[in-house]
Parts: sequence; structure tokens; C-alpha cells
Amino acid sequence: MVKQEKSLTMSVLMTPDMANFSGHVHGGSLLKLLDQVAYSCAAKYCKQYVVTAALDQVFFKQQVNVGELVTFYAHVNYVGHSSMEVGVKVVAENLRTDDKRHTTSCYFTMVAMDDTGKPTPVPRLEVETDDEKRYYAEALLRKQMRQENLHKNRILAIELTEEKF
Ligand SMILES: CC(C)(COP(=O)(O)OP(=O)(O)OC[C@H]1O[C@@H](n2cnc3c(N)ncnc32)[C@H](O)[C@@H]1OP(=O)(O)O)[C@@H](O)C(=O)NCCC(=O)NCCS
Repeated sequence: MVKQEKSLTMSVLMTPDMANFSGHVHGGSLLKLLDQVAYSCAAKYCKQYVVTAALDQVFFKQQVNVGELVTFYAHVNYVGHSSMEVGVKVVAENLRTDDKRHTTSCYFTMVAMDDTGKPTPVPRLEVETDDEKRYYAEALLRKQMRQENLHKNRILAIELTEEKF
């Protein structure tokens, strides 16, 4: 049986062109890299073209500095019919001191698309290790939260469109 490719790791050196006005790494630079990692992890898993459907709230817990090596650890936590939840853990490393900091974790929903641009089924996820069982259970909870939020947003959108301008 062919082993599923569920994980992907990518390291990127934070260069001065990624800095914001304060000299730290710009949030948008990190978001772009996060999206690339989530894309690669999901596409490698399902062997299809994928799009980003959603990104759960990202909290930048700590600033990332220019000169640090940032490693993105991505994993397919959960698979629906055409969608996949990819969790990404971000670790920033000071190369001079070896100090490592977990700066962010976030969760992408990626959807596999066929050649006509429609969602297409992805392989069933083989949940093997204890860690994978935990990731799967947590992803299921987040899926429920996402659906509740979508429902609340729909109500909010209706209320907003009823406003008079
Ligand atoms: C994501 C997209 C394909 C969903 O299309 P859709 O018509 O809603 O398709 P479906 O209703 O069949 O949903 C497909 C899957 O996406 C999931 N999905 C759709 N909207 C979602 C959302 N807002 N959050 C999380 N998952 C979502 C559905 O739950 C479904 O999952 P499942 O197949 O595992 O059950 C479509 O909205 C799209 O193309 N969006 C643009 C994506 C994009 O341009 N991204 C940025 C650049 S890559």
C-alpha cells in the first residue's frame, strides 16, 4: 500500500524585503508563505490542483525578526469530500543563539478542483498515529465551529444588507 503524503515542512530565511515599517517581518509576507505551504501540503496529499476556501483566525502571538529562519510544519488533519483541513505550525529560529519560538498556528481549508473548476473528491484520510487521531478530533471540532460561524455570518450579512444608506 502506498503511504499517504500528509505532512510537509518548509524553511524560509526572513530577509529585509519582508520587513514592515517597524523592521519586523510583515504579517502579509507570512500569510503568503502560509498559503503556499498549505497549498503544497494539500496538493501533494490529493495530487490535484487546490484552492484556499478558508483560513481560520490567525493570531500573530509573537513578532518574527528579519534574519530568523522560519519553519512551517504543515499536516493534513482532516478530509471531507473535496475539502482538507491543513494545520500549519510556525517556528521562528534565531540562527545565532539556536533559540526557537512557536509564533503561530493556523488552519486552512483547501478544496480540490477538477479541470473544469469544480470541487472534486479527495482520497480518504488514513488516520494512523495517536497524534493523527488527536489532530482529526480537533479538526472535527473546528469544522463545527466554522459551520456555526458561517451560519452567524449569513444572518449578519442579511442584517447588513437591510441597512439603509
Ligand atoms: C472554495 C469553493 C471551491 C467552494 O465552492 P462551493 O460552490 O461552495 O462548493 P461546495 O459547496 O461543493 O463545497 C466544496 C467544499 O468546500 C467546503 N467549503 C465551502 N465553503 C467553505 C468555507 N467558507 N469554509 C470552509 N469550507 C468551505 C465545503 O464544506 C465542501 O467541503 P466537502 O466537499 O469536504 O464537504 C469556491 O467558493 C471557490 O472557488 N472559492 C474561491 C477560492 C479562491 O479563489 N481562493 C483564493 C485563491 S486560491
